[in-house]
Amino acid sequence: MQDSILLTGGTGFIGSHTAVALAQAGYSFVILDNLSNSSSKVLDRLARLNASPLAFVNADVRDAQTLDKLFGEYKFSGVIHFAGLKAVGESVAQPLRYFDNNVNGTLQLLQAMQRAAVQKIVFSSSATVYGDPASVPIQESAPLTSTNPYGRSKLLCEDILRELFQADANWQIALLRYFNPVGAHISGLLGEAPNGVPNNLMPYVTQVASGQREFLQIFGNDYDTPDGTGVRDYLHVMDLAQGHVAALRALNAPKLLTVNLGTGQGVSVKQLVDAFARVNGVPIAHRYVARRAGDIAQCFADPTKAQELLNWKAQLGLDRMCADAWRWQSMNPQGFDTPL
Ligand code: NAD
Ligand code: UD1
Repeated sequence: MQDSILLTGGTGFIGSHTAVALAQAGYSFVILDNLSNSSSKVLDRLARLNASPLAFVNADVRDAQTLDKLFGEYKFSGVIHFAGLKAVGESVAQPLRYFDNNVNGTLQLLQAMQRAAVQKIVFSSSATVYGDPASVPIQESAPLTSTNPYGRSKLLCEDILRELFQADANWQIALLRYFNPVGAHISGLLGEAPNGVPNNLMPYVTQVASGQREFLQIFGNDYDTPDGTGVRDYLHVMDLAQGHVAALRALNAPKLLTVNLGTGQGVSVKQLVDAFARVNGVPIAHRYVARRAGDIAQCFADPTKAQELLNWKAQLGLDRMCADAWRWQSMNPQGFDTPL
């Protein structure tokens, strides 16, 4: 049996781009996803990009029987665990669903890994574990907290993985704290396809650009930031994908790595909107409205540890993020349902 990687949530936004990066780096992989927030049509796109999985398993990560069968069939050298629910507002309304899916899902996966003696895992954490940071750029040693059930679910999973490593230091664990992934694969074949009204900035901007939405609401222009709008660390999703390949390589021995994946550059909402309009030649109608509840003024990474521990650094700038996001939107007006 050939060594391969299990990708949970591999048909999702970050998972699908990571599949391409893994294929290019010579890894084979199996995707497990219950398609609760993605389309099986992603698999056709992966095939076009020479990144087909060895197998696609339509199953829930909480299904222990399926996991045991899968770990029996394949000799996995490690797991990248993307499967999770990620909408903050929804998590406030449905906390039990979020804890069950994200925390119980991670527990079921870790228990199946333990039964199969697979001890390498890369976990999708988030900058949300820093809450409202006291200062920026944020180092991994900053205090951890949560302000909503989604954030709490990520923190709980991190705690579980830290406790697991305490108990058995043979594990190889990477906690990757993503900042704000945006953009799309340069081919225009893969990208972010949110259901309904997008919560996040870049998908909303691309839908305004395409005429699907009339204008962007900029949530607050009275923050203590250079132009008054919120500042984030936008990161190209292909750079993020490469971060997972780098993490797998760095997990060459028992260790627990905790790493920010961001560019280290703070970009305001206004700057992103202006860059998008300039790069793509499409104006983005916008109006300033009140701050969004729960939002913070600034959040960007100190990415030094990623460079030191993973030998990873973001390569693609804001202009590429905007160009690739727009190419994806223009080529796929119906998302993955757009005929190839
Ligand atoms: P996504 O929703 O596009 O992908 C997640 C995938 O997991 C989906 O394909 C979904 O169908 C699948 N899934 C969810 N629950 C499952 C379950 N119980 N069993 C099997 N499959 C399940 O989201 P994404 O943006 O690709 O995010 C991937 C991971 O990264 C998530 O854990 C998310 O919380 C985390 N993350 C995302 C961001 C972001 O901004 N996108 C930021 C920080 C962290
Ligand atoms: C959101 C989540 C966070 C998650 C992150 C990455 C919330 C409160 N937080 O963070 O937990 O880790 O996504 O997935 O949802 N903005 C607008 N208009 C819009 C949309 C956004 O002005 O229509 C602004 C926001 O106020 C913010 C910036 O754009 O300043 C980025 O917003 P968004 O893309 O939602 O990401 P985060 O708020 O960083």
